Amino acid sequence: MTADQEKKQAALEAVKYIKDTMVVGLGTGSTAKHMIEAVGKLVADGMNLTCVPSSEATEKLAKELGIKIVALDAIDKIDVTIDGADEFDEKFQLIKGGGGALLREKILAWNTKFNIIIADSRKEVQKLGAFKLPVEVIPFATKQILAYLETEGLQPVQRMRGGDPYRTDENNNIIDIDIFRTEDLQALESKLLKIPGVVETGLFLDTTSLIIVGKEGGPEVKE
Ligand code: 5RP
Repeated sequence: MTADQEKKQAALEAVKYIKDTMVVGLGTGSTAKHMIEAVGKLVADGMNLTCVPSSEATEKLAKELGIKIVALDAIDKIDVTIDGADEFDEKFQLIKGGGGALLREKILAWNTKFNIIIADSRKEVQKLGAFKLPVEVIPFATKQILAYLETEGLQPVQRMRGGDPYRTDENNNIIDIDIFRTEDLQALESKLLKIPGVVETGLFLDTTSLIIVGKEGGPEVKE
């Protein structure tokens, strides 16, 4: 199976957890895109869903598919959020934010009763960190944070797009760092979040309820 076929398989399995009248959080990325299209079909078939998007790209796609979108502050709690990941390990720890939507994705995850991660099998790792960890920072502080992270040995690289600093939906920058040699991820997360100007990190350490992995022979559901 190709990675994309595995992503779609995981997405189709995940939408089975969506029930009528639920509030659903919609993730961002190529795996989430398959899920959003499947949610669009559920809605077209008559299911009454209210959805909260994790990015402007997701919101646009959802609206095109006729999915009812609301802002987070229009609801109390999200019933289920389905989102992708860049890496996950056996402890359900994730790196997210390859697509730059980590801040809203983390806010959705934190405000969700049941978080489902969908992924192709290449995302499963023994140890997080082959994928660089995205850290969202306020542009005013980007230069100083880059310098600090360099002294910490985290090999920071500012994310660029078309020759310009990358901007998130919240108009922030992203710095990608190397955490492969980091053993204590909780300590790293606390340390990063203490830096003035760091808004959020792509480490999702304790929000995931279920991971569905697309695989030859059928989706694997990890609980
Ligand atoms: C976006 C994300 C995505 O979920 C992550 O990058 C995975 O993307 P894809 O499904 O395209 O592989 O965190 O911020």
